[in-house]
Amino acid sequence: MESPFNSVTRPRATQLLPQLLIIISFLITLTWPCIEAAAATQELLKGFEATPNPSVSSFQSLLEDSSGKFSFGLLRVNSTELALAVLHVPSNEQLWLANPKTLARWSDRTRVFFNGSLVISDPRSRVFWSTGTQGDKLVLLNNSNLQILDNSNNDPTVTWQSFDFPTNTLVETQNFTSTMSLISSNGLYSMRLGRDSIGLYAKFDSDSDQMYWKHKALQAKAPVIDGNGPVHLRVEPDGWLGMYQNGTTPVDVESFNSFQRPLDGLLIVRLEPDGNLKAYYWAGSSWVVDYQAIRETCELPNPCGPYGLCTSGSGCSCLDNNTEFSSSGHCAGSGLLSNDLCTDPNAQKEVKVLRKQGVEVPFKELMSYETMSSLEECEDSCEKNCSCYGAVYNNASGFCYILDYPIQTLLGVDDDSKVGYFKMIEGAKKKKMDAGLGVGIGLLGGAIVFLIAAIGFGSYKIWRSRRGVNRILEEEAGGVISGPYKDLGSASFRSIEMCSGSNR
Ligand SMILES: *[C@@H]1O[C@H](CO)[C@@H](O)[C@H](O)[C@H]1NC(C)=O
Ligand SMILES: *[C@@H]1O[C@H](CO)[C@@H](O)[C@H](O)[C@H]1NC(C)=O
Ligand SMILES: *[C@@H]1O[C@H](CO)[C@@H](O)[C@H](O)[C@H]1NC(C)=O
Ligand SMILES: *[C@@H]1O[C@H](CO)[C@@H](O)[C@H](O)[C@H]1NC(C)=O
Ligand SMILES: *[C@@H]1O[C@H](CO)[C@@H](O)[C@H](O)[C@H]1NC(C)=O
Ligand SMILES: *[C@@H]1O[C@H](CO)[C@@H](O)[C@H](O)[C@H]1NC(C)=O
Repeated sequence: MESPFNSVTRPRATQLLPQLLIIISFLITLTWPCIEAAAATQELLKGFEATPNPSVSSFQSLLEDSSGKFSFGLLRVNSTELALAVLHVPSNEQLWLANPKTLARWSDRTRVFFNGSLVISDPRSRVFWSTGTQGDKLVLLNNSNLQILDNSNNDPTVTWQSFDFPTNTLVETQNFTSTMSLISSNGLYSMRLGRDSIGLYAKFDSDSDQMYWKHKALQAKAPVIDGNGPVHLRVEPDGWLGMYQNGTTPVDVESFNSFQRPLDGLLIVRLEPDGNLKAYYWAGSSWVVDYQAIRETCELPNPCGPYGLCTSGSGCSCLDNNTEFSSSGHCAGSGLLSNDLCTDPNAQKEVKVLRKQGVEVPFKELMSYETMSSLEECEDSCEKNCSCYGAVYNNASGFCYILDYPIQTLLGVDDDSKVGYFKMIEGAKKKKMDAGLGVGIGLLGGAIVFLIAAIGFGSYKIWRSRRGVNRILEEEAGGVISGPYKDLGSASFRSIEMCSGSNR
């Protein structure tokens, strides 16, 4: 006779087998997408080639750094487009893009390869983007710098690095020199260095390059000396942005909240789509703002949109009393934005004038002005000049500020001697735009309903499948399997997060 112990366990084990198989296959399907990421290589050699995988929805990793914090690969943008990107893996944050202005297509005909140059090629445009180098391998450093190394001598040299071509972000230890620029993701704002200063610039139309923020080196520890070459910036890991000319003594220290506090997490500086320059550090589960160049909303370059009015303490309204400000940010007058008054005679005829008291130009210390003896003279000089979109007159100082780019947000002030004169186009064009906006909002609403339904269905499915497995475990296995299952389960959910992380 078999012992009671055996008689109980043997049948149970055989009964359990199919369920174990189900559990194992379930765990495999959960962890499967990660296998590729786990095996990610740390260098790419000549001959490497990849094509976008149609089943990847957000990010296809090609290369990781030694710490596993950074990943280089194919980023899927707007579901149909492709950019080469370096991501911060724990947060999925994009730190660098190779081709932000000219995205390739997410199609099996697009190829990314390394033949000494890192190349994106597409049968339509052939070479889409290339580093134009002759290197031997591609590596990702543990500070997120992607480098092409030349091994032809025994001493490897760097022939190209992504740190020399920043997009909108600088990471700690990264240099920013006077030949580089940071460009916000929407392409509107840029950061460049001057002789002894940092400047932020707005591109309100194809010709404009309006500086809206300037920080001059304090030169407390070292002076900027003409003839000693241009200055450069470096994001210092202990919480400050250093400006240097020669050597290691900074000519300027722009300190962050975390100044001289050692941080575990990555520190980055980013030029945001609203034109602000911000520093963040990674606090393990979220990014914490550590610095912002512009603290007041109304001092941002265009906080209320075209023909908006920003008043400190009361927020956004429209320059034109007859339109209410809505968060979609369309104030009357915006129709003029698409017209060039100097080349389109029809636009000239449609122009109306909007006058408003109690307005001031933003960042006026960076705006050019002429001194005029009266408001009429100031308005007249703008009216006659087709490249003038508006003028703001200060009766007390006699300064006439000319706006030579499409009207953006102005500042509201409690002083009626400051008067604005703005060209605008009303009527047909505006209606057309509103209709377009309506359709857009309708589509967006539809998309949101669809998304909610999809998420609901997805979580229901996950809930059901998890409930199914849990029920099997509860009924049959007791503590023996449910213990390890829980560990495995949480581990595989962690790896899913990491995967969907590196896939996003
Ligand atoms: C790499 O491929 C590109 C595109 O086909 C080509 O233009 C380039 O000459 C190649 N570079 C080297 C070093 O072979
Ligand atoms: C990065 O790598 C360098 C050597 O390549 C090492 O000295 C440094 O400690 C590493 N940094 C981190 C954060 O791992
Ligand atoms: C940063 O720039 C300085 C001066 O140009 C240079 O000495 C230093 O090696 C650069 N550092 C890196 C990481 O490129
Ligand atoms: C707009 O409203 C302000 C204050 O409510 C008023 O002083 C001004 O005359 C109005 N302007 C126009 C053009 O209606
Ligand atoms: C018209 O305005 C632009 C921009 O302010 C200025 O550069 C140009 O000299 C003006 N033209 C005339 C004829 O005043
Ligand atoms: C503008 O200034 C002149 C003299 O400087 C003054 O006479 C006039 O009242 C002022 N107008 C306004 C609207 O403040």
